[in-house]
Amino acid sequence: MEIREAGVIGCGLMGSGIAQVVATAGIPTIVVEVSQELCDRGMASIDKQFDRLVQKGALKTEERAAIRSRIRPTTDRAQLANCDLVIEAVVESLEEKKKLWEALDPILPRRAILGSNTSSLSITEMMKYTSRPERFLGIHFMNPVPVMKLVEVVRTVATDREVFESAMQFIERIGKTPVRTSDRPGFIVNRLLIPYLLDAIRALEQGTGSIADLDRSMQLGCGHPMGPFTLADFIGLDTTYYIANILFEEFREPRFAPPGLLKRLVLAGWHGRKAGKGFYDYSDPGAPKAQEHIYQI
Ligand code: CAA
Repeated sequence: MEIREAGVIGCGLMGSGIAQVVATAGIPTIVVEVSQELCDRGMASIDKQFDRLVQKGALKTEERAAIRSRIRPTTDRAQLANCDLVIEAVVESLEEKKKLWEALDPILPRRAILGSNTSSLSITEMMKYTSRPERFLGIHFMNPVPVMKLVEVVRTVATDREVFESAMQFIERIGKTPVRTSDRPGFIVNRLLIPYLLDAIRALEQGTGSIADLDRSMQLGCGHPMGPFTLADFIGLDTTYYIANILFEEFREPRFAPPGLLKRLVLAGWHGRKAGKGFYDYSDPGAPKAQEHIYQI
């Protein structure tokens, strides 16, 4: 099935990145937000990305104008009436997503492929709120969307095989690498990544090394672009904690249980980079400072 027009719902960190990538691949993209202010904010962040690309010579000014003209921001969901594919990237709340999919059902064309960018919620539970579960699947991008090559394409017991293959082809068309997975908590990436991050926190609690040294070890010893604490702060400690709880709920294995230190940082509101504080203090964004005192008496 050819995707001639796409819709992205939510223009936050993930939605804006998805819209940027889809429009860059030549596909007209409608971006829906709940208010004009959020539309403007999302488009400003896309424009900032384009500015960076133009400045470093990776994008010509004419190309930028053409891509930008393919992105149509709106607060009116009815504008999605002609979309062949819709990707939802709203807040990680099943309640919000259910309401959204119910409201979209009478608007979207019957041929449309419906995808959720959720990283942690059940695709199977969400699909029940559309009248066409066979056209519903997970399309999970990684953060930062414009940079990370991988997209997890997630099928449920009800997803039609042709719909699944069309979604796989779409991901290749927008220059990403899709992997196939099924609707189980964490899919592939978070199923492997979250216990690794939790284990790094446990190693810190046990005195194996400092935040800075544990990070440095995985960067320089294993070639990871970010050490586990920098990465947890980047993902968001609230998000890491939330996903860990979902994984623990499902698998009941200690390695998925969030460590006490993570819970305390979340309770303190130190949610990582976006909050200005987490395992690191970002008061000077150019030189984050490891908060080694958080696990010492
Ligand atoms: N948006 C767009 N582009 C960005 C960006 C952003 N937020 N951050 C960096 N970039 C681009 C830069 O422009 C630069 O591009 P060029 O090479 O073309 O110049 C490139 O990425 C490298 O950036 P920097 O030199 O500034 O910084 P870096 O080398 O430290 O790379 C990084 C930054 C790409 C984020 C790198 O540190 C990295 O890959 N980190 C790991 C990220 C990761 O693991 N993400 C997955 C998280 S898990 C997830 O998303 C799943 C989930 O559900 C929780």
